[in-house]
Amino acid sequence: MAPVRAAGSVVVALCIGAILSSFLRKRSKSSSSRTPNVPNYRNGLVAAIGNTPLIRINSLSDATGCEILGKAEFLNPGGSVKDRVAVKIIEEALESGSLAPGGVVTEGSAGSTAISLATVAPAYGCKCHVVIPDDVAIEKSQILEALGATVERVRPVSITHRDHYVNVARRRALEANEIASKHHNFNQNSTKDVNQINGYTSDKETQSILYDCKGGFFADQFENLANFRAHYEGTGPEIWEQVGGNLDAFVAAAGTGGTVAGISRFLKEKDSNIKCFLIDPPGSGLFNKVTRGVMYTREEAEGQRLKNPFDTITEGIGINRLTENFKMSELDGAFRGTDIEAVEMSRYLLKNDGLFLGSSSAMNCVGAVRLAQALGPGHTIITILCDSGMRHLTKFYNAQYLSQYGLTPSAAGLEFLGPD
Ligand SMILES: Cc1ncc(COP(=O)(O)O)c(C=O)c1O
Repeated sequence: MAPVRAAGSVVVALCIGAILSSFLRKRSKSSSSRTPNVPNYRNGLVAAIGNTPLIRINSLSDATGCEILGKAEFLNPGGSVKDRVAVKIIEEALESGSLAPGGVVTEGSAGSTAISLATVAPAYGCKCHVVIPDDVAIEKSQILEALGATVERVRPVSITHRDHYVNVARRRALEANEIASKHHNFNQNSTKDVNQINGYTSDKETQSILYDCKGGFFADQFENLANFRAHYEGTGPEIWEQVGGNLDAFVAAAGTGGTVAGISRFLKEKDSNIKCFLIDPPGSGLFNKVTRGVMYTREEAEGQRLKNPFDTITEGIGINRLTENFKMSELDGAFRGTDIEAVEMSRYLLKNDGLFLGSSSAMNCVGAVRLAQALGPGHTIITILCDSGMRHLTKFYNAQYLSQYGLTPSAAGLEFLGPD
């Protein structure tokens, strides 16, 4: 009897299988007839920038009893929060006529903004020329050159020196404009005084991108309010929509101040009860500015020293001058973060959440925990995950580099977060 019963079960199983698969086929046919295939793609690189996900950072949320959400800006095509800024700067410049189609965008930048400008410039038919200090990690200029930008490495000097990299970048745009305006009379002699700069001679490629083009435009990320607007019109509204208007606080560090200013101002206009905070790395004057209204002593002001001293290993954040972008921020207070806290936080997030983040993102997460501790459990806190750890392999994720500054991580949990 046993084999007969087994055969019977097989037949029953086959019948059920056939009925089920025919049901599923019919269902999928009827659903596809209800919703015709709608193409779902982004129209070009620029449309793929922004609308980044908001990620619940599970480890920090569970540890603090707050919902700590990170805006994953490292997922932008150019790898950072600066993609939006690059797009806004170029679009506004093209619209106003300050940048001609086919022109060259110049920027003095030691990092992400230059990479974002070099990434998006070709999408607008433009070129990119970057002036960087020669002590910046060599892989940054390699990335820029691989992206098609020309790179001029100059010696690091004070912002008040005419050959500070930001000042050289500004000058390069003016030179390109002058050349463009007298294009017909152009002769090689007119480039004599600009080929030699600060001990460096610009190469043929640099000369051709600047002088064969249709004029230049200095991006000026620190003072150009297109930077602020990129966040006020983009990142801020995205966050508001993603949380359905349910948030209590926002915290981030500032470099140019564009991110903090754009997002804080937008959120405060939506709901003035939302608390907005700054987290400031060592050596930056912004903590004092926000909490005491005074930025620095006379000796500490940027430009008083030949070169800014080594203060922090975090990159892209902290500053000792008040930029037009930062002036637009609406802040309730500020925290200080240390380098070791940022290093420990980065390893903690890697271990517990699989988040591989750059140094400024790690500092932002230090700020998010400080804010959670200050507000108490039950609050929703937003911060920014600016870029990934990929761009920080030679320093922030290099054990040898960290050990020479006494920054070797050793914490098991969040005990490294001392009092503010
Ligand atoms: C990696 C990174 N994070 C954060 C920032 C700070 O953003 P913001 O310039 O908007 O203040 C920068 C600025 O250059 C940056 O490069």
